[in-house]
Amino acid sequence: MIYQSGRHFLQIPGPTNVPDRILRAMAKPTIDHRGPEFAQLTQEVLKGLKQIFKTSGTVVIYPSSGTGAWEAALVNTLSPGDRILMFETGYFATLWRNMALKLGLDVDFVLGDWRHGVDPSVVEKKLSEDRKHAIKAVMVVHNETSTGVTSRMPEIREAMDRTEHPALLMVDTISSLASIDYRHDEWGVDVTVGCSQKGLMLPPGLGLNAISDNALKSSKSATLPKSYWDWEAMINDNKSGFFPYTPATNLLYGLRESIRMLLEEGLENVFARHYRLGEATRRAVRTWGLEILCLNPEEYSNSLTAVLMPDGYNADDLREVVLKRFNMSLGTGLGKLKGKVFRIGHLGDFNDLMLAGTLSGIEMGLALAKVPFSKGGVTEALDYLSTRQ
Ligand SMILES: Cc1ncc(COP(=O)(O)O)c(C=O)c1O
Repeated sequence: MIYQSGRHFLQIPGPTNVPDRILRAMAKPTIDHRGPEFAQLTQEVLKGLKQIFKTSGTVVIYPSSGTGAWEAALVNTLSPGDRILMFETGYFATLWRNMALKLGLDVDFVLGDWRHGVDPSVVEKKLSEDRKHAIKAVMVVHNETSTGVTSRMPEIREAMDRTEHPALLMVDTISSLASIDYRHDEWGVDVTVGCSQKGLMLPPGLGLNAISDNALKSSKSATLPKSYWDWEAMINDNKSGFFPYTPATNLLYGLRESIRMLLEEGLENVFARHYRLGEATRRAVRTWGLEILCLNPEEYSNSLTAVLMPDGYNADDLREVVLKRFNMSLGTGLGKLKGKVFRIGHLGDFNDLMLAGTLSGIEMGLALAKVPFSKGGVTEALDYLSTRQ
């Protein structure tokens, strides 16, 4: 690799850029994870995370990637053969379904086109038809990172409420937490799954569950095998500020700093900033004459935009040009979208000028890769950013 001066633009939809404040917070000597200083750190981050999830319930933190937090949600609440309702919104929803199948759950997987979120009316129909209450849980990926589609959580919750069905609601907020409005308690979510490397602006390595009292109750009778992921041991040890095994100490220093930064900015301002950057990106894409993968404007994601390539052009060729010439990483197409889309990450520690650089790299890359497009996307985005608060 030839040395490239200046900083790398990491514009994939996670892991995201880690701000200096967080890097510095993590660059400290590791402390005794059974000592008093550590106990205080645990209490502080658990309290702070409740504000981020908007819950007064229980939060647990695993030294894991997001996939671990998915597994924790399933094995703590369900038993072998339990029926659950899942939706094919994209690559990650499909992976979560595959995990549920491997664990021995009976999955009703509602097929989708990877261009829409979960349809609240289908949730309502499925639950209304299930008069015997065989369905134990409804699983939703809030923000599908493979497609840039955000499902409409309040409408899904209302649809569930209308049926008076007792199924648990479990939501993956891996690429929406601390970027897109999310309310664990208000939306009656039973388990929220999160992780560190996206809106929380941390490196990968922490998996999160926010847990309702209802989900805790279910965990008392759930019989799927579990050990590492067992909420009970974790919650018991967390009471005194400790973990049942060695926690990711330095990532927790980073998490404390991340929560402080998010609360200093104010969560509502964080969401507004992501909306603004998302909207500027979408305007640029439309001006280029390219197609946004998400088909429903009510479901546009404010943490990333997936862009369809014109027929006959491979998104990975464009990504390669952009990486080589401008030292910028864009997200690749996942699963059946490989080569067909590139994804622009606009979440986490990100601002107007970083977006301007990102869009400029793409516009120059489109020209260099000889992709047919119209110039002016960057100008359109700058006009929007300079005239809107
Ligand atoms: C929506 C979503 N769910 C789950 C995952 C899996 O998380 P991890 O790769 O950290 O295990 C990802 C990863 O990007 C994701 O975007």
